[in-house]
Amino acid sequence: MIFIFLVILLCLFGFVLLFGAPYVPTMRKQSQTALDMVSLKPGQTLYELGSGDGRVLRQAAQRGYNVVGYEINPLLALIAYVYTWKYRKQVKVVCGNFWKADLAPADAVFVFLLDRYMEKLDNKMKNEVKKGTLLASFAFQIPDKKIAKQSNGIFLYKY
Ligand SMILES: C[S@@+](CC[C@H](N)C(=O)[O-])C[C@H]1O[C@@H](n2cnc3c(N)ncnc32)[C@H](O)[C@@H]1O
Repeated sequence: MIFIFLVILLCLFGFVLLFGAPYVPTMRKQSQTALDMVSLKPGQTLYELGSGDGRVLRQAAQRGYNVVGYEINPLLALIAYVYTWKYRKQVKVVCGNFWKADLAPADAVFVFLLDRYMEKLDNKMKNEVKKGTLLASFAFQIPDKKIAKQSNGIFLYKY
């Protein structure tokens, strides 16, 4: 029984490697820095691509932002849904592949991915976001794009 449970967990956390970065949560110091750097007004919209357990969604909602999180791992999406329930009027957790998300409504985007996805993300941002949308990326840079600000391992870009 425990074996079957472990296999299911391994599959849930392993299959994501086909689509993007594995689950590693952002520490509070870095997520707060990212939210400080994007500095949205209450009511503006932040997208988080790969929203994990929902900790960044919750922190963003506490600042009055509307937040949309895409998470491909159904277990993490469920945890995020429960964890952000108090802020359910502001937070939408989508269990799905963020490469299929439409980023047009975003005022800012937060990601913690891997180096090998940053060029693809850059193209997606260029094709979809409105002028002035901010991208805050923890740990990984967009190749050959000018960094608007950098602090605590967060790279901020303007599109
Ligand atoms: C490094 S973790 C970051 C989690 C969260 N953003 C944080 O900072 O705490 C990356 C997350 O992205 C999710 N993920 C990876 N590829 C994805 C995809 N194509 N669509 C949706 N979620 C994805 C993973 O399941 C994982 O939870």
